[in-house]
Amino acid sequence: MVLRAALVILALAVLSPVLYERAQTLYLFWKNAPERLVPVDNFGSYEIKFVDRVRSCEDALVLEPEGVSILACDPGRERWNTVMGMFLPGPLPSAELYIYDYKNSEASDEETLKRLQFVDFDVQDDFHTLGMAYDEETSTLFAASHRHDQPAIEVFKLDLAAYTARHLGSIQHPLIHGPNSIALINGHELYVTNNNHFLVKDNPILNKLETYLGLPLGTVVHVDFSSFIADPRGGHPVQATVAARLAFANGIELLNSTTVAVASTSRASVYLYTISPESPAKLAYATQIHVPFLVDNLSVASDGRLMMAGHPHMPSLVKFTKSRHVCNGSPEETKPDYCADPGAPSWAAEWTEEGGLKNLYVGTEYPSSATIARDVKRGMGILSGLYAKGIMVWRD
Ligand SMILES: *[C@@H]1O[C@H](CO)[C@@H](O)[C@H](O)[C@H]1NC(C)=O
Ligand SMILES: *[C@@H]1O[C@H](CO)[C@@H](O)[C@H](O)[C@H]1NC(C)=O
Repeated sequence: MVLRAALVILALAVLSPVLYERAQTLYLFWKNAPERLVPVDNFGSYEIKFVDRVRSCEDALVLEPEGVSILACDPGRERWNTVMGMFLPGPLPSAELYIYDYKNSEASDEETLKRLQFVDFDVQDDFHTLGMAYDEETSTLFAASHRHDQPAIEVFKLDLAAYTARHLGSIQHPLIHGPNSIALINGHELYVTNNNHFLVKDNPILNKLETYLGLPLGTVVHVDFSSFIADPRGGHPVQATVAARLAFANGIELLNSTTVAVASTSRASVYLYTISPESPAKLAYATQIHVPFLVDNLSVASDGRLMMAGHPHMPSLVKFTKSRHVCNGSPEETKPDYCADPGAPSWAAEWTEEGGLKNLYVGTEYPSSATIARDVKRGMGILSGLYAKGIMVWRD
C-alpha cells in the first residue's frame, strides 16, 4: 500500500513540470544558509519583548481598532508538532492565549501582556494551536488545534475587557485532518488549509516526499459552519468541501472580496485565487507570487498590504525545532554547546500589486518567524516565531 502510493507520488513528480521550480527552491537551501544570508533591517526600530514569559507563539492577530494583539503560544510544540513531526514522550504543556495591549507604550510589560482565562474548556489540556481567525463583530475566535484524538477548530467567545475565552465548542470534519491556517469569510463560512495529504504521524516517508517534491496535495477547505453556530454543543456535522489543492498549503488570508491569498510553503510562493461569486466553495487559480524564502503565514494590513513571514533556510529550522526541548529545558541544567548557535533565520516581507515585494527583515536576532502583522494606523507591527522566545515588536 505504502509502496504503491510512493510509486504514484514519484510518477506524479516526474510527470509534472515542477522540476525546474523544485531546483530553484532547493537552491534556497544553499543560498540562504545562515553563513551566507545577507541581513536586512527595514524596520525603523524593534524590540524583542516577553522573552521570559511566552515562547513558540506561531500566531499573532492584530486588532487595529482595539490596538491589541491576540497571541497563541504553545510551549508544548517543542515536544508535539504534528506538522514537523515531533512526538516526544513526557509532560506536555498546552497552549495559552494572550492579549498584548500594544497601543499603550508607556505601560509596564506586566500590564500590557495578559493571559486569557479559559471558561468551559473541557479539552484545555490538549490545546495545541496553529492558525487563528477572529470575528470582531461577534468577538469569536477560531483556533486550529492539533488535538490527539482528532484535530479541531476550537471556537471561543472572547471578552477582551475581562480577559476570558469561553469555549463554545469544536468544529471537526474528516476534511479538516491537519488544519493550519484559517480565514473567515463571514459569520458562518471560513477557509482552512491542511498543509499535507499524508500526515507525518501516519506516513512519515510519504509526508516527506510530498513536501520535498512540492506535490499539490495540500488543501484549502471551505467550511460552512451554520449548523455549529445554531447549536455549538449539538454535535451537528458542518459542511466542508475542498476548494483548491496546492503544495503545502499554509497561511491563508482574504486579500479583498474577490481574491484569496494562500502560502505554498514548499514552493516558496503565494498563490492568489479568485473566489467564485456564486459559490465560495470553488476557488479559481489566478496567479503566483514567487518569494525568496519558504513562506509560512500571511496577514493583510488595513491598507491592503499583504504581509508574509517565513523561513529562509529549512535545514536550520529543522535543527532548531529538534533541539528546542533540550535548549529550553530547566534553567538549572547545563545545555549542550549547540544551544548557543544562532537560531533558524527569519524572513519577513510585504507585497502590493503596484509595489511588488519589499523585504522588511532578514536575520537571526529573532528566530523562526512565522507570522507578521501590521497596525497601519499606529505605524508598528508584530513578528512572531514558531519556536522563538517572546515576540518582536517593531515601530516604523
Ligand atoms: C497567520 O496569520 C493570520 C493573520 O494574522 C492568522 O489569522 C493566522 O492564524 C495565522 N496562521 C498561522 C498558522 O500562524
Ligand atoms: C483584489 O486584489 C487583486 C490582487 O491584488 C486585484 O487584482 C483585484 O483587482 C482586487 N479586487 C478588488 C475588488 O479590489
